[in-house]
Amino acid sequence: MQREIWSSRTGFILATVGSAVGLGNIWRFNYLTYENGGGAFLIPYFVALFTAGISLIILELALGSKFKGAAPLALKRANKRFEWIGWWAALSGFIITMYYVVIVGWALIYLEKAFVLGWGEDANGYFFGTVLQLTDSAWDLGGFPVPVLLGAAAVWGVTWIVEAKGVQAGIEKANRIFMPLLWILALVLVARALTLEGAFTGIDWYLKPDFNRLFEYHVWLAAYGQIFYTLGIGMAIMIAYGSYLPDGSDIANNALIVSLANGAFSFLMGFAVFGTLGYMAAASGQGVDQVVADGIGLAFVVFPTALNLLPGLNALTAVAFFACLVVAGLSSLVSLVEGFVASLMDKFEMERGRAVRVTVVFGLLGSLLYASRGGLYWLDIVDHFIMIYGLLVVGTLEAVAIGWIFGAGKIKEWVNASSDVRAGIWWDLSVKLIVPVVLVVLVAEETASNLATPYGGYPQMAAYLGMALMAAGIALSLLLSMVRREVD
Ligand code: PHE
Repeated sequence: MQREIWSSRTGFILATVGSAVGLGNIWRFNYLTYENGGGAFLIPYFVALFTAGISLIILELALGSKFKGAAPLALKRANKRFEWIGWWAALSGFIITMYYVVIVGWALIYLEKAFVLGWGEDANGYFFGTVLQLTDSAWDLGGFPVPVLLGAAAVWGVTWIVEAKGVQAGIEKANRIFMPLLWILALVLVARALTLEGAFTGIDWYLKPDFNRLFEYHVWLAAYGQIFYTLGIGMAIMIAYGSYLPDGSDIANNALIVSLANGAFSFLMGFAVFGTLGYMAAASGQGVDQVVADGIGLAFVVFPTALNLLPGLNALTAVAFFACLVVAGLSSLVSLVEGFVASLMDKFEMERGRAVRVTVVFGLLGSLLYASRGGLYWLDIVDHFIMIYGLLVVGTLEAVAIGWIFGAGKIKEWVNASSDVRAGIWWDLSVKLIVPVVLVVLVAEETASNLATPYGGYPQMAAYLGMALMAAGIALSLLLSMVRREVD
């Protein structure tokens, strides 16, 4: 089978930015900034970007383009013993996909309600009670709220259509629509926020620099964590996307462009979010610290409340906000699914159509857990564990396997043969030293804290199940790498 290729550099860059810019840019970056020193946090952010993020994107894109394979095949071609790392990356991406779909499904429900601010006065009760119908414990799944199920199915449906059409007619084309739309929506939200009374108080909370925080090492760990999360490193995505680059394509400069565009989007969204929060705080006579939240709390509780309070253009702003979530989420989803689909296609010589069908069917089945009435608990638990033992562990393994065992030099040669920006000694230093050290510290810290106190106050049993799922995923990865096939 002839491997697909990107039709143009622009198409590739749009798709890669689409992958990186996701829910995390809207609800995570700005909150971390606020919490970790305001404007001063931009220093660790950029240090993390330049000492770890960009070099790992270069590594993953180069692996894909040099070895012409998605994560498992590319790593296998570097060294037979590395194939399982690729599978763990692909499976981690697939595990994330299953709940990410459900979240985008909620956003879809809210997008439909946004035209009339259909969540009513009590946004908190609406989200947990009416939409999720959340049960009392993780052990009580309690059946499905139908709209949540339909939302998830619709999101899988769109992903299916885009993925089935392939690299050029699917992924590239979707992102040619999604990306400009996303930036327009973000600008609408920023413009609305900045014209609100109190907006600048909010932005002051967001960016007022506290340089003393730079002496705390947790602030630095938070920055590295966010860089891995936002760039989607260790999720098999960039390796698959790299494998569709025609020979001689630029790698290093493209990695730089993509990570800067991604950072710019996050920074911009901060103005929309904190500007709006500033207004909300002023309007309700509170401090910004009393209304601020991140994650789903921000998107589905705090923001809807703020949207109710706006002095005008409420519905327009609401539609822009939830459309923004849907579009950012969908474009990331497509890439997560592609990392997995491409891995199946390589290993089992499957046609794209078949690989996509298999992925969608199993993915939809997996999403059922998170779409149930107790699903939010599982979403929270699995998200927590996969970020540590998927993303961070895979990042470490990749850096060690390629940097030390395969040889950083060979990848560098490949990159430098065709890139405007050269991967110099900084790249070696980053891949061989900084990335493994920072990631090992992050994983160790998280593991220690998980053992000390059960994550999120869930019964310890739930945490064990989370761990067991991780162990099962790694075992499955090893198993898959042992299945012998013709291709290598
Ligand atoms: N990077 C995207 C985001 O910030 C999507 C993503 C999330 C990818 C988590 C991998 C892991 O939302």
